[in-house]
Amino acid sequence: MKKISTILFAFAVLAVSCGQKVNPAVDGEPVSITVAPAATKAAISDGGSGVASFAWSSGDDLGVVAGGKLYRFTFKNRESDGSALFEGSLPQGTTLENGAPVAYPFNTGDLSEGSFKLSLPSEYESAGAADFRHRWAGTLSAQADGSFRSNLEHSGAIMRVSYTGVPAGTDAVRLTADKNICDSGKTVTIRPSWHSDAMDFYFPVPEGEYSKFEVALMKGGSVIDGSAKTLDNTVMQLARGSIYRTPAINLSASSGNGGVLVACFSFTGNTWTVAQTLSELAGAELYRITPSVAYGDENNSYYDSSTRAYQEQYGPASARPGIQATLGGNGYDTVLLGFPIWYGKAPRVVFTFLDTYDFTGKTVIPFITSGSTGISTAEAELQSTYPGIDWKSGRRLNGSSSTDLKEWLQSLGISKQSTSDMTVTVNGKSFGATLADNQTARAFAELLPLTLDMEELNGNEKYCYLSGSLPSNPTNPGKIEEGDIMLFGSSCVVIFYESFNTSYSYTRLGKVTDPSGLKAALGSGNPTVSFSR
Ligand SMILES: Cc1cc2nc3c(=O)[nH]c(=O)nc-3n(C[C@H](O)[C@H](O)[C@H](O)COP(=O)(O)O)c2cc1C
Repeated sequence: MKKISTILFAFAVLAVSCGQKVNPAVDGEPVSITVAPAATKAAISDGGSGVASFAWSSGDDLGVVAGGKLYRFTFKNRESDGSALFEGSLPQGTTLENGAPVAYPFNTGDLSEGSFKLSLPSEYESAGAADFRHRWAGTLSAQADGSFRSNLEHSGAIMRVSYTGVPAGTDAVRLTADKNICDSGKTVTIRPSWHSDAMDFYFPVPEGEYSKFEVALMKGGSVIDGSAKTLDNTVMQLARGSIYRTPAINLSASSGNGGVLVACFSFTGNTWTVAQTLSELAGAELYRITPSVAYGDENNSYYDSSTRAYQEQYGPASARPGIQATLGGNGYDTVLLGFPIWYGKAPRVVFTFLDTYDFTGKTVIPFITSGSTGISTAEAELQSTYPGIDWKSGRRLNGSSSTDLKEWLQSLGISKQSTSDMTVTVNGKSFGATLADNQTARAFAELLPLTLDMEELNGNEKYCYLSGSLPSNPTNPGKIEEGDIMLFGSSCVVIFYESFNTSYSYTRLGKVTDPSGLKAALGSGNPTVSFSR
């Protein structure tokens, strides 16, 4: 047997020239293969962007086809960029080829002759918030140095079904579509062996167009009262690799804020930062309005009348630039709608969003960031274009602190329920904190109460590595705020006591609501910090 080592999964897109034969190794010499996932099982998350991301972990096995047969490659280790090394062996005389199919997990689906046929079961077991076994597939690409690489993509689309106020004893969630979504029909069931108040379920479904989904929570074979919901307000385009979100279905008046959506278009990130804080403070769903074709940096030159942004804003008011429609519907009572001011008005993609999801009869509250322009002109145009929406007066939120934002939300009657909050205690002093509305924070919340011996770093943070990993979806927040509670990598809990700009990426766990006195309480050494609900 030849030893095949170092199958590295990375994110670069690589050219594949199918059919070319490559003899990967002289007998006994190791061969390296690099393959790139668009996502992994350990943390399927889209951070609001609608695109799946993934993190490899031990126990992951790949199927690779060589010489017409399927071979198993096992996970070795994960690289800092999210790629991973896999190892396997091939019989003597067997070679890998450019274009050879590779898929995760091993032996699920029909891997043959340069193609991967997706096999979708009708039931999945789920052992935890981050546990699911979706199908990822790609092809191998030979590198000049004899190694192999590949990108893996989710082999279908993903329907995310979110519930809050999930009753204890819920033993299944059921998704039924208007066409086949598994090998045996239109209904797929996920059976969780875990429970929390807010639960997200990720159903793999074939990519394509759907006009109806029905979801329901089950207990002992019966649908739980009030949990059944039909989504059929709009034609839903589920693209390969994208995560399509249902509005959170709230089964309990005392949990979450399932009826509130924070939707935001942001070009340079200013409005998105505000949107993230608003969603955390409100305990609301967060959704990024993403144009089908991204705006290039040239649009930052406001005075250049040849740019796309200028042409759209000064062109016909009926322009509706395409967006990636990955929100699962308009089942929200209230929408906080964020955008930057472009030439005095709301960018046209905001109108595309409102056309796509039809919030007639719902409450929509705009918020903006801008260089200096106020919100009134943009607001007036939105109100006259969508008179059926119950518009509430919006705000320009440049430079608003989280206290300002909290007060604004309170004035709107939107405030997070206490079930999502936590208390951070250090040296006998307690601080109220919000938990982020993401899988990472929910997995962290399941660990509470938790007491950590934290270590000092850089005069601005205290950190501690957990014994296990949490699902993570790191992004660069740009700015760290005093009181931010973040996850670095997949296991390092960090609490910041200074505000500064950062180039590092984190997944948000939460935020100390009022951090005054936090720095003094944490001190200059290595404090013991307790986190509790
Ligand atoms: C194409 C374009 C047009 C803009 N027009 C205005 C404007 O009319 N008035 C204003 O005060 N700021 C204007 N700005 C500045 C943005 O509104 C401001 O930087 C905003 O915070 C950007 O938000 P974002 O980072 O979420 O995209 C414009 C920016 C761009 C890129």
